Amino acid sequence: MCGIVGYIGYRKAAPTIFGCLKALEYRGYDSAGIATSHDGRITVKRDVGKIAEVHKKHDLEDLEGHAGIGHTRWATHGAPSQLNAHPLCDCTGRLAIVHNGVIENYMEIKHELLRKGHKFKSETDTEVAVHLIEENLKHGAGRKQASFEEAVRKAVARFRGNYAFAVLKAGEDKLVLARNGSPLVIGFGNPLSASGKGPHSRSAENEGNEMFAASDVPALLSHTRDFAFMEDGDLVVIDRRGARFEHEGRPIKRKRMHVSWTAKMAQKEGYPHFTIKEINEQILSIPAALRVDVGKAAKLMRGARHIHVIGCGTSYHACLVFRHLLARLAGREAEAWVASEYKEGAVVGPGTLVVAVSQSGETIDTMLAVKHARAHGAKVVAITNVVGSSLARGSDANIYIGAGPEVGVVATKTFTSQVAVLTKLALAVAGKKLAINGFSKKIKTVLALAPKMKEIAHSLRTTNDYFFIGRGLAAPVAMEGALKLKEIAYVHAEAYPAGELKHGPLSLIADGVPVIAIAPASGETHHKMLGNIKECKARGGKIMALSDSPHLLEEGKWKVAMPPVSEELSPLLYIIPLQLLAYYSCLERGHDPDKPRNLAKSVTVE
Ligand code: M6R
Repeated sequence: MCGIVGYIGYRKAAPTIFGCLKALEYRGYDSAGIATSHDGRITVKRDVGKIAEVHKKHDLEDLEGHAGIGHTRWATHGAPSQLNAHPLCDCTGRLAIVHNGVIENYMEIKHELLRKGHKFKSETDTEVAVHLIEENLKHGAGRKQASFEEAVRKAVARFRGNYAFAVLKAGEDKLVLARNGSPLVIGFGNPLSASGKGPHSRSAENEGNEMFAASDVPALLSHTRDFAFMEDGDLVVIDRRGARFEHEGRPIKRKRMHVSWTAKMAQKEGYPHFTIKEINEQILSIPAALRVDVGKAAKLMRGARHIHVIGCGTSYHACLVFRHLLARLAGREAEAWVASEYKEGAVVGPGTLVVAVSQSGETIDTMLAVKHARAHGAKVVAITNVVGSSLARGSDANIYIGAGPEVGVVATKTFTSQVAVLTKLALAVAGKKLAINGFSKKIKTVLALAPKMKEIAHSLRTTNDYFFIGRGLAAPVAMEGALKLKEIAYVHAEAYPAGELKHGPLSLIADGVPVIAIAPASGETHHKMLGNIKECKARGGKIMALSDSPHLLEEGKWKVAMPPVSEELSPLLYIIPLQLLAYYSCLERGHDPDKPRNLAKSVTVE
């Protein structure tokens, strides 16, 4: 979704913001822009397209000034266009704003402002914010003009919905930021060294400090690893001296945290794409996640009357794996919910433990479901990859999956790390230990299937309909495999528990339709899978068999031979060839796997 960057300090703002925006590209966007303030004036450059395209047209780095804001926009209100791109300005051109989220009551405010003579140039909800701040500036206490902070404070108090804002004002050496529901982090930059020998040399004109703001941590890693995280209801002023936080009008201190991620971890390091880099990183990230301590969460779970496990997309698939494991290993029942359906459907109260799974820890649907559960007295365990994320901050126990930054929009290594942690958790609730000797070697064997998956992707390069089937723990793996293919290869892929085929979808299995059958021999139901595979073959389906059983492999037109693995660890291995299949299918069709169309890494609007 939209990405925000803010900078104030001793460097030229535009090139600094430009670099940070590039590091935010993975969030997904359709237009980009930067505004800086210099000599009492604001200059804006923005347009539709990727940052590189906008830069080619407008030279985004060529803006004077040491304070500025930047934005990547994922269109909600108004089509992707130059006029709707951010930053947006007020009538005077002395205020500029960037926004992530949706102002739900913008129409009512817009009508009011139109009556007062404000002129709107875009179709966005955001533009009301900048005009409202302009209006508020005119009406301070007594006859005075309001201060910049006061005007922003008064404006955000009017908004319903989710937002993160960064606002710039001509002639003011500061940025004002506000957050409600959409993420914003404050980054503490490097002060100039007094000796002039530090990272930046001292000069009379630009000496001092520097401060950053951004939608998330990876955007700023090349400048800082020291962050403070804004909470809902916070307003922050950053200037060269630092950051001043207030919460609902009162000054407040927010903890400064040092993150362990480095800028290098968020680079491609010789790989052509982040997606394939992150698939390969599973050789380290899975064993690391299997070592994570889940003790506190297991204790909460043992004491809970009801367990709900919630997430969206890939994280939801991890929830389904968990539900199955918890039943099989610990004999406990968990309800698995797509987070956006939770509020309307779930019965929640004191005694319920909600396990919220989200790699970003910022997904709005998951956040709102958690808020609902807490309001009804439930306890929350958060499973996230991002230290300091909103979900992690508001929970009773917090498990970091430790996968390192995931830059590719599609979740790969974070899925297996979620599943690894949840497997450990299910075992801990059951009072059992995990046997993982030799598992790294198996991950390596499966990653070495890359050339085979590439070959299969090539032979299927003109195929646009796929079926994925599995039973038990392999059913959510099938769903995740199909999702990967849809997301980056843009083909139609359906996933079913194999037993469901006969109840409808079998009518679609005809000559040449590929059926990807996930059938580990350790699964109790693998004999039944053989029957399901035969049914598909009898109707002309072409089978891709993923198995460690020679009988099942024999049925495949494509045979993906897997190493033997215990049932509980099977999802961790079986998803890898499917991630590889999606990656190579994407390349075969000439798409960019790192930035799939219409999708965003962190979904911060409902
Ligand atoms: O950050 P989250 O895990 O909460 O994100 C949830 C989904 O938006 C995410 O898994 C999405 O489905 C990805 N594009 C999967 O590749």
